[in-house]
Amino acid sequence: MDVKDLFKDIKKYEGKSVTLEGWVRNNRNQSNFGFIDFNDGTYFQSLQLVYEKDNKQFDEISKVRVGSAIKVTGKIVKSEGSGQSHEMKIDSFELMGDSADDYPIQPKRHTREFLRDMAYLRPRTNLFNAVFRVRSVAAHAIHEYFQSNNYVYFHSPILTAADCEGSNQMFKATTFDLNEVPKDKDGKIDYSKDLFGHEVYITGSGQLHGETFALAYKKIYTFGPTMRTEKSNTKTHANEFWMIEPEIAFCDLNGIMDIEEDMLKYIIKYVMDKCPLEIDFFDKFVEKGLKDKLNKVLTSKFERITHHEAIDLLKKAKVKWEFEPDYKEDIAKEHEKYITEYFNGPVFITDWPKDIKAWYMRLNDDNETVAAVDLEVPGSGELIGGSQREERLEVLEELMQKHGVDKSKVDWYVNTRRFGGCYHAGFGLGFERLIMYLTGIENIRDVIPFPRTPNNCDY
Ligand code: 4AD
Ligand code: MG
Repeated sequence: MDVKDLFKDIKKYEGKSVTLEGWVRNNRNQSNFGFIDFNDGTYFQSLQLVYEKDNKQFDEISKVRVGSAIKVTGKIVKSEGSGQSHEMKIDSFELMGDSADDYPIQPKRHTREFLRDMAYLRPRTNLFNAVFRVRSVAAHAIHEYFQSNNYVYFHSPILTAADCEGSNQMFKATTFDLNEVPKDKDGKIDYSKDLFGHEVYITGSGQLHGETFALAYKKIYTFGPTMRTEKSNTKTHANEFWMIEPEIAFCDLNGIMDIEEDMLKYIIKYVMDKCPLEIDFFDKFVEKGLKDKLNKVLTSKFERITHHEAIDLLKKAKVKWEFEPDYKEDIAKEHEKYITEYFNGPVFITDWPKDIKAWYMRLNDDNETVAAVDLEVPGSGELIGGSQREERLEVLEELMQKHGVDKSKVDWYVNTRRFGGCYHAGFGLGFERLIMYLTGIENIRDVIPFPRTPNNCDY
């Protein structure tokens, strides 16, 4: 059985014999008795196993090393110790897989940096076990939220020719032998000889494809891996991350803000309900006040300000900025931090200068700004980026030209404006940044199982 099922109603098992398989987190013993901290991964809490001198396997058990895989059968009894209500008295024991003396995860505090280098073993620690369970539960919450609200889960392609967030941001996919790349008569790479007959990338966003499905299903969402080449060595950027991209037909900018807020509250509540031990642990050891923060989000209305108002606020602040706030410019990390701390919670920033945002965003009547919205949260910074899409064919074509987008590669996308186009909007939620926000973990490398960042693609 799983330890999780045992803990669900441990009293029911009092005096009964059960068999468990799992790993040894710690083994402490004296001459007459010993304790094993046993964890099978299904539950945050470990089960204490007790063995005494009268057990004929006493010597064998007392030598079991940390990290070993074991199978135990024994009675569940009330514990006399203070750390737990119940424990198991081992009757029979089997070593399934020994662990060497140089097993790196010893029962002591390891730094997160050390564990990052042990990415294949770190899920066996309390911290990472909790992080990756929350990650799994949050993924489920997201599917449940969208499925129960009539969205269709759409699988956007991983290989693409479409340029959504900038082709310079995308990894190239090729079957060429890179030492012998075919060239044309001008010395340029001859992609006509490649598998697809033209240049192909690994997706940096499923949005453009998602829009086509939204114009058939009204409401869709994607949930999948995303790759970007940016060389940003920050705590919030990875070269491979997961993104959720809902797209909704007949929806405007205010509409997606409502959805984002509703979705986030749903996920937070779901994770707090399903992972109480994990959230308690984070609250105690990772971010003090995490529970209060999340509870406050559940009951508060998210702030909504325009980019112009945000810059006003930053200019008024008595802070010496590294980057001077500017009405025509992006908002820097230090600005995000100030704004989220000022409002002490999530903040929507809308209506951004058109030149610094993507080509598909709907131009506002002022001709200067676009109907874009970023959701900023304390710690993770930009958690969600979204916009109303430019549905007017002529305006879209103008924007594409200004941004230098090759129309021939996305003619199908442009066509959707000719075949029953309508106003629509969507957003992209960075899944790792969400997990950072839910757990208080400050570094994106610690919320994705095997992080890929510049100079780091081991395993
Ligand atoms: O703001 P971004 O680039 O927007 C898009 O890709 C749109 N196509 C989304 C849409 O409207 N459908 O990315 C969306 C979110 C960001 O807000 C951030 O949370 C996350 O994706 N993100 C990253 N997360 C980790 N590492 C990176 N390098 C990220 N780049 C973006
Ligand atoms: Mg963005």
